[in-house]
Parts: sequence; C-alpha cells; structure tokens
Amino acid sequence: MDKKNILLIVGSFRKNSFNQSLADYIAETLKNEANVEFLDYKNLPLLEQDTEYPTPEQVIDIRNQVRKADALWVVSPEYNGSYPALLKNVLDWLSRPEKPFDRETPTVIAGKPVTVSAAAGTTEGKFVRENLSTLFSYIRMNPMPGNGAGIILPMEAWQTGVLTLTDEHKEIINRQVKDFLEFISK
Ligand SMILES: Cc1cc2nc3c(=O)[nH]c(=O)nc-3n(C[C@H](O)[C@H](O)[C@H](O)COP(=O)(O)O)c2cc1C
Repeated sequence: MDKKNILLIVGSFRKNSFNQSLADYIAETLKNEANVEFLDYKNLPLLEQDTEYPTPEQVIDIRNQVRKADALWVVSPEYNGSYPALLKNVLDWLSRPEKPFDRETPTVIAGKPVTVSAAAGTTEGKFVRENLSTLFSYIRMNPMPGNGAGIILPMEAWQTGVLTLTDEHKEIINRQVKDFLEFISK
C-alpha cells in the first residue's frame, strides 16, 4: 500500500520549543510508515476579512500543502487552557472557502483526518486537546476519537530549556502513532 502523506502543524514558533521537539519525535517515529512534512506557516498574515480576498500568496501556499496531505497532526502548547492564537489563525484560514461566498465546494480541510498531541504542564495539555478537538469538528475535519495524547513536561525541561523525552513519553506517542496510522488507513 502507498504511504500516506501526513502534515504536521506545530503550534509554537519558539526557538527550542518543547512542542517542536515532540513533533520531531513524532516525525521520526512515523517516517518508515508515512511521508511526513511540516507545515511552514510563519509568514501567514492574520485573518482579517477586509484583506481575505484576493487570497494572499502565503494562504494559497498553505492550502496547497494541506490539499496534498492525507492527514494532519497538530502538536500544540496549551495557552491558558486552550490553543495559541497562531494555531487558531491557520485553522481559520483553512476553514474558509477558496472563492468568496462559495458554500458548495468543500474547503481543503473538510473531512481531513487529524489528531493532536501536546507537551504541557500537569494538565498533559488536556484543555488544549479538548478545545482543539471541538474546533476540528466545528470546521468539519475528521478528528480521531479520544482527544489525542499529551505529555507532562518534566521539571528538567523547564530548568534546562530542553525537552528530553522519557521512555514513558515515547510509549504514549508510539501508541498514538499506531492508532493514527490505523485510523487513517480505514
Ligand atoms: C500565554 C501563555 C499561556 C500559558 N498557559 C498554559 C496552560 O494553560 N497550561 C500549560 O500547561 N502551560 C501553559 N503555558 C506554558 C507553556 O506550556 C510553555 O510556555 C511551553 O514552553 C510552551 O510550549 P513550547 O515550548 O512548545 O513553545 C502558557 C504559556 C503562555 C505563553
């Protein structure tokens, strides 16, 4: 069977982001089973309806990257019990019709399988994962049931600024990788 294309979307641009480290591990774990890419959306403008059309170049570009993907995997920090604004911005852009007022043509994310992982405090990113799952359904994506998986950032990560995944973290992610590959193969 052909390998699926999985596009990772990381909800932090921070240098040494813990969630980027987690996403790197996910990509590494997936790489024998799937083609993995990261969505580059650093230069995406803020969605503001007066400048939504004609569609900015950067938006056309991210829509094309998403169109090519069989599935999306969001890896996000938790900000105040929810998702960071930059993640909401990219998902808002992707949720909009490519032509003004076109309610007939499905958006690039309609029906797209998706899951979420989070590296966070003691919540294991429970709230960001729940809120993202609600958002995914609202914008007609196809979230894997169960609100994804989260890891608790160890004290050492806060102290050193570097996330070293423990065996327990890896086990959590390995299980999610297996479940997601199964979910998207159906
Ligand atoms: C605005 C803001 C709100 C935050 N709220 C939460 C929170 O609700 N839960 C949590 O676990 N961490 C929270 N944090 C801490 C983040 O988990 C921490 O900054 C983490 O390093 C961000 O992920 P990153 O390393 O991938 O950038 C918050 C951080 C910021 C900047």
